[in-house]
Amino acid sequence: MKQLMWVALVVTMIAGCENRSEKILTDASYGFIDSLISVMTLDEKIGQMTLYTSGWDTTGPTLNDQYKVELKAGRVGALFNAHTVAYNRELQRIAVEETNLGIPLLFGYDVIHGHKTIFPIPLAESCTWDLDLIRETARLSAKEATASGLNWTFNPMVDVARDPRWGRVAEGAGEDPYLVSLIGAARVRGYQGDDLKDPYTMLACVKHFAAYGAAQAGRDYHTVDMSDRVLREIYLPPYKAAIDAGATTVMTSFNEIDGVPVSGNKYLLTEILRDEWKFDGFVVTDYTSINEMVPHGIVADEKEAASLALKAGVDMDMQGGVFNAHLGTLIASSEIKEEEIDKAVRKVLMLKERLGLFDNPYLYLDEQREKEVLFSSELMDHALEVAKESIVLLKNEHFKGQPVLPVSKDVRNIAVIGPLGDNQLDLLGTWHASGDVSKVVTLLEGIRKVVPGAKVTYAKGVGFYDHDAGNIQEARKVAASADVVILALGENYLQSGEAASRASIDLPGQQNELVKAIMGLNKPTVAVVMAGRPLTIQQLDEQVPAILNGWHLGTMAGQAIAEVLFGVHNPSGKLTMTYPRSVGQIPICYSMKNTGRPFAANNKYTSKYLDESNEPLYPFGYGLSYTSFEYGDLIVNKTAITTGETLNIKVTVKNTGSRQGSEVVQLYTRDLVGSVTRPVKELKGFEKITLAPDESKTVEFSLSTDDLAFYTRDMSYKAEPGEFKVYVGGNSAEVLTAPFSLVE
Ligand code: GLC
Repeated sequence: MKQLMWVALVVTMIAGCENRSEKILTDASYGFIDSLISVMTLDEKIGQMTLYTSGWDTTGPTLNDQYKVELKAGRVGALFNAHTVAYNRELQRIAVEETNLGIPLLFGYDVIHGHKTIFPIPLAESCTWDLDLIRETARLSAKEATASGLNWTFNPMVDVARDPRWGRVAEGAGEDPYLVSLIGAARVRGYQGDDLKDPYTMLACVKHFAAYGAAQAGRDYHTVDMSDRVLREIYLPPYKAAIDAGATTVMTSFNEIDGVPVSGNKYLLTEILRDEWKFDGFVVTDYTSINEMVPHGIVADEKEAASLALKAGVDMDMQGGVFNAHLGTLIASSEIKEEEIDKAVRKVLMLKERLGLFDNPYLYLDEQREKEVLFSSELMDHALEVAKESIVLLKNEHFKGQPVLPVSKDVRNIAVIGPLGDNQLDLLGTWHASGDVSKVVTLLEGIRKVVPGAKVTYAKGVGFYDHDAGNIQEARKVAASADVVILALGENYLQSGEAASRASIDLPGQQNELVKAIMGLNKPTVAVVMAGRPLTIQQLDEQVPAILNGWHLGTMAGQAIAEVLFGVHNPSGKLTMTYPRSVGQIPICYSMKNTGRPFAANNKYTSKYLDESNEPLYPFGYGLSYTSFEYGDLIVNKTAITTGETLNIKVTVKNTGSRQGSEVVQLYTRDLVGSVTRPVKELKGFEKITLAPDESKTVEFSLSTDDLAFYTRDMSYKAEPGEFKVYVGGNSAEVLTAPFSLVE
């Protein structure tokens, strides 16, 4: 009956229209939605601004009794962490058939790098620099998640991060705003597709707005304080790029900026997000972040917090129950107006309409589709491909005259040593949602699959914590009997992600001691480092001739790493986050300022450390291959351009090795003099190419004056005339360069 009612509303609004075009739909749904709002009680309106979590226990999905009461009273507009078609169908049935107006629910979830089939953690995937591949991952994640009854993901996370002590670097796309922007936009397009009424697409949620990745000292939830220039130059662009790509929801971050917690920050949530960027979706808070404005010390109680959040521009309260508890009172005391609530409710209802939920609340709840899609070969094949492309070859030196990698497939006796060698759960990485651990291919299994004729032995050696019982001697014995040793080192999945900042980012536990013992055997050894962040592995780098960054690669991790180890796949990943030599260098990134006393070896009084180099262990954009590439003939078509003109840049890249390989050719610029100081390099373009042995390709880039714009001294965003340099290379440190100037 309720469905008929709003169908009647919709039909009357559309009756006079020829066809349901987007414009007419918007007008119609605008009218329909306003008609619906006009018959909603205040409680029902506030319910649409309320998001509660479902639970999960050994019996499966659960919903606490109080939320069931709220749900039936029409005081819940969305649930998260609820999935499977059967469970969500029942919840949707309650919402549609047992509440006064029958408004369907949104079902949200952290589909961060897959739902049941788990892809590499986002930081790993960003090292593919392959936007089509990344978009496909989001599309397939949405396909599997929507088949499981979900229609809203809390992703992409586009927090620029330059401090690997922060555990949430794992969820993002690294340190560079240009690259994070492109990747964030690709993920939004993957999740949302071209039509949100397609039951395989879902609402994206760009997070965590804003600048959450700049938490002081890399400590999660810590204070963020920066100039408006740095905020707009480095941290805001990826959120805007995701919104320009069509992101329909935005999530506020836990942190404060300039003394005001984001969930109560009108400058961010209204002046920038709405007024400047024209964002027209809805803003949801992060988990209880409205409530947290009390301990932040910006309000005295949660009622004040509710008022501050609503007035700042928050539309939906995740899990805090603060809107439900206090907006009614705030209306009664005229501290807020009902129109302010109607504005928020309208945005939520508009997106439910765009998803097609008013036409069919059960659109996402098809059990047959669930059976067909989960773990389909399309998903598993993609999981393997992305995992392989995410691997970064950090080092590959010789042992007795031969490069250690790739290991010959004729090898007879392999020892796998370390806590990630025969491990499924940790390879899924942080935020692995409802990933099925039983499906994860371990490194041991992957190796046995790729080299079935070899004898493969395993010893864990040590765990992830100092207190873990280990047996380094037993591991040494196992390694002693092998021809080749594969060290499987790194972090477990709990050592990165949310609330997982580390003051030391060394290999955890006694792993360095394990490495030392094994290297004493003087055997050809490869270290595979699997973690959610760049680690300080200087000691490993000094001892081990070959190192692969195997991140946390998800369901197909073991096979992907094995295919790279034995040369079935030639690695091409490039770091999107700098590897520090030591934690004392942090924050460190490729795009730093020159300072007035740039380091000079022959001058004490220059910017440096007494006990550490200024240089990273591995720079942004870095990654080796089993072949080699030579760069030459960097040519710019002009030595000077005027405003509005384009500079064309060409470079020739040759595969000088013996096997096909892919290379990410990177373009950087430097503005030598500005009305404010400028970074020594900024990424402005890249192209991933694949070359056969001896093949050359001329890669072309074009730079417009818009590409040279920045927030100048008076904060106007524009390019300034002057001298520039372009840099082109296979990473941010080894580059060819050419000058050019921008003239009035
Ligand atoms: C968490 C995270 C956020 C996530 C949300 C829902 O606290 O900060 O990224 O989407 O809660 O799980």
